Amino acid sequence: MAERHDAVDVIVTKRDGGTLTDDQIDWVIDAYTRGVVADEQMSSLAMAILQRGMTRAEIARWTQAMIETGERMDFSSLSRPTADKHSTGGVGDKITLPLAPLVAACGVAVPQLSGRGLGHTGGTLDKLESIPGWRAALTNEEMMSQLESVGAVVCAAGSGLAPADKKLYALRDVTGTVEAIPLIASSIMSKKIAEGTGVLVLDVKVGTGAFMKDIDQARELARTMVDLGTDAGVRTSALLTDMSTPLGRGIGNALEVTESLEVLAGGGPADVVELTVALAREMLAGAGVTDVDPAEALKDGRAMDAWKAMIRAQDGNPEAPMAVATHTEDVVAERDGVITRMDALGVGVAAWRLGAGRARQQDPVQAGAGVFLHKTLGEAVKAGDVIATLHTDTPDRMPRGLQALSEACGGDGAIEIGDSAPERTILLDSVGALTA
Ligand code: URA
Repeated sequence: MAERHDAVDVIVTKRDGGTLTDDQIDWVIDAYTRGVVADEQMSSLAMAILQRGMTRAEIARWTQAMIETGERMDFSSLSRPTADKHSTGGVGDKITLPLAPLVAACGVAVPQLSGRGLGHTGGTLDKLESIPGWRAALTNEEMMSQLESVGAVVCAAGSGLAPADKKLYALRDVTGTVEAIPLIASSIMSKKIAEGTGVLVLDVKVGTGAFMKDIDQARELARTMVDLGTDAGVRTSALLTDMSTPLGRGIGNALEVTESLEVLAGGGPADVVELTVALAREMLAGAGVTDVDPAEALKDGRAMDAWKAMIRAQDGNPEAPMAVATHTEDVVAERDGVITRMDALGVGVAAWRLGAGRARQQDPVQAGAGVFLHKTLGEAVKAGDVIATLHTDTPDRMPRGLQALSEACGGDGAIEIGDSAPERTILLDSVGALTA
C-alpha cells in the first residue's frame, strides 16, 4: 500500500522552520514504529526538532501519536483515586521509595511504573532489587490487585506502553538529540498518560546532576509537560527541585534503600524528608485528599506498614539485611571549615563507576556499591574527618571512583571546603501547583 507522506518532506518542513500538520505527525510516528521511516530519517527529523522547536499543538499531537502506538492502562475500576510521580532523574534520588507507600498510607493509590538506571542517575528498580527476593515484573492483574489491597505498586513498565518512544529514545541517545525539550516532554508524558494515572506530579531536577542545568530550561520543560498532562485530562503539576548536590547521604542501590527506611521510620536526612512530604502533599491535593498530613504518616509508622506490605506483595523480604560492599575507602577533610560544594554530578559519576550504575542497558549493577556522605553541603568538618566513604565489590574500580570526585567541576573537585556555605534550598519553584 502506498504511504500517504514522504519522510523527506516531513524532515524538510521542520528543517526549514515550518509547522508539521497533524497528519504528518500521525504518519511519521506510526511509519517509524512500523519500520517504514528509517532510523537515519527519524534521526534527521529529531535534529530538526531540536534546532527548530515545536508549537504546543505539535507537541500535543506528537505525544498523542506515540501513545496510540501502544496500550493504555485503566485504573478507573479501583476503589480509590490514583496519583503518580515522575522525576527527571538525579543523584541520590530515592524519593519514590518512601513516597509511594506514604501516599498509599494516606488513602491514594500509587501505580508507579519505573525504569532502570542508565548513566550517573540510578533507577528505582535497581534500588528495589537490592532487597532480597523483590520482583520487578508484574502482570497487569497482579498490579491491579496490589493497588487495591496495598495501595502502592512500583514495578517495571511493560514494553506495551508507547513503543514508539522506546525506539525513538534509543535513537536519540546515540544521535545527540536527547536534549530537545519537545522530545523529552513528549517522551515522558506519552508513557505517563498511557499509564492512566488520574494525578501526576513531576519532579523536575535542576543543577549539575540533572538533565536541565539551568532553571529557565527546567521551567520550560515543566510548563510543557504540565500543559501536555492537563490537556490530556490528567491533573498535573511540577516542582522544580535542586540537583546541584545529591539528595541525602546514601548514593547507590542498597545505601538508598537503607536511607529510605530511616525516612519511613520517621527520621532520615532533612532534604529527603522535605521533598518526600512536598511531593506527597501535591499528589494528595490533586486526588482531593486534603485532611491527612503526610508528615504525620511518616512519623507514626503508617507509611512503614505500607512499605512492608508493598515489598512483601512483590516477594521481597522487608526484614532482610541489606547488601554491604566488600571494599571501602574513605575521603578525609584536608582542613577545618564548612562543606561549600558537594557536586551532584561528581558524586553520581563516582557511584556509577564503583558499580552502582550501568553503562549499557544489559549490564548488571552491584547492590552494595556507591558513596556514603558522612558530611554534606553546609556541614562543618575538622581536618582528618571522614567526609565520604566509597563502597564497591570490585576494588579495581576504586581509583576511577576517586578520580570522578577529584576531576568534577572542571578539575576543581566535587568536594570543596571553605569558610561559610549558603543555605540549601530544595524547592526552587513550581508550575501548576495543586496544593492551595
Ligand atoms: N526520560 C524519558 O523517559 N525520556 C526522555 O526523553 C528523557 C528522560
